[in-house]
Amino acid sequence: MRRLHLAAAVLAVFLPLAVSAAGGKAAAAKAPVAPPAPPNITAAMAKGGCKAFAALVAASPDAHSTFQSAGDGGVTAFCPSDDAVRSFMPRYKNLSADGKASLLLFHAVPVYYAPRSLKSNNGVMNTLATDGSANNFNFTVQNEGEQVTIKTDASDHAARVKSTVYDKDPIAIYAVDTVLEPVELFEPAESPAPAPAPAPVADAPKAPKKQARHRPVADAPGPAAEDAAPADQRKNSKKSAASAAPCLPWAAVLPVVVAVAAALA
Ligand SMILES: *[C@@H]1O[C@H](CO)[C@@H](O)[C@H](O)[C@H]1NC(C)=O
Ligand SMILES: *[C@@H]1O[C@H](CO)[C@@H](O)[C@H](O)[C@H]1NC(C)=O
Ligand SMILES: *[C@@H]1O[C@H](CO)[C@@H](O)[C@H](O)[C@H]1NC(C)=O
Repeated sequence: MRRLHLAAAVLAVFLPLAVSAAGGKAAAAKAPVAPPAPPNITAAMAKGGCKAFAALVAASPDAHSTFQSAGDGGVTAFCPSDDAVRSFMPRYKNLSADGKASLLLFHAVPVYYAPRSLKSNNGVMNTLATDGSANNFNFTVQNEGEQVTIKTDASDHAARVKSTVYDKDPIAIYAVDTVLEPVELFEPAESPAPAPAPAPVADAPKAPKKQARHRPVADAPGPAAEDAAPADQRKNSKKSAASAAPCLPWAAVLPVVVAVAAALA
């Protein structure tokens, strides 16, 4: 009998697991059909008019593998035109291999921005080259009307986003008219850059998004706490009513005692 019970208990525990595992397998079997082959970012850049930049990425193993894997989690790349890369080459060749990789990775942010959301997400952005606070490698995205520009502390002139090279969630690629120069690799621009100013503005649009995402979670304890409070209050009022009740007979008896005492006296 005991063994039978044990067997039943084991079945009760493992049968649902087995069933859900089978369901999971069925779902997993379907999954690979849905996503098409991950797009090749460098190929997409080359196709969209950034052949020279794509070639530099392909020639830098670090940059190439990072670009390729960044595509999985969402990425927005800004590829300089072939003309821009050509005139930048003497300075590029002057960089170490690490510097080259950082410069290339500086041209992408680890977030997918469709054209519309790029225009509404002005501010300081970290890039694929960002590595903690020691290697900030950030730039500032700003709109001038419909024109999206990218400013770094190392350049007098902001790069301008010229066209959309590729846009399919989770990958967006935009062509820019200059190579972006990170201040970590190049001398800061001479003019006292007003770049730090937009930083607080930049964080502002991001914050509400985060809050919106967390709101259901953050609010969850709220209503629960509110529900708990009236319950406690009800309990408390019951308690105080209960503790008040024993007092009543005394209050009623006291005058009688006093009267009897008075009568006896
Ligand atoms: C992507 O395309 C480039 C050519 O633009 C090629 O060299 C590279 O091997 C491709 N990468 C992958 C992961 O297919
Ligand atoms: C190359 O780097 C050296 C020092 O790091 C610098 O003096 C020189 O101007 C650089 N050349 C170019 C073309 O940027
Ligand atoms: C951007 O990088 C600069 C240094 O290059 C740093 O001083 C600044 O704090 C960074 N801004 C943000 C918002 O990370």
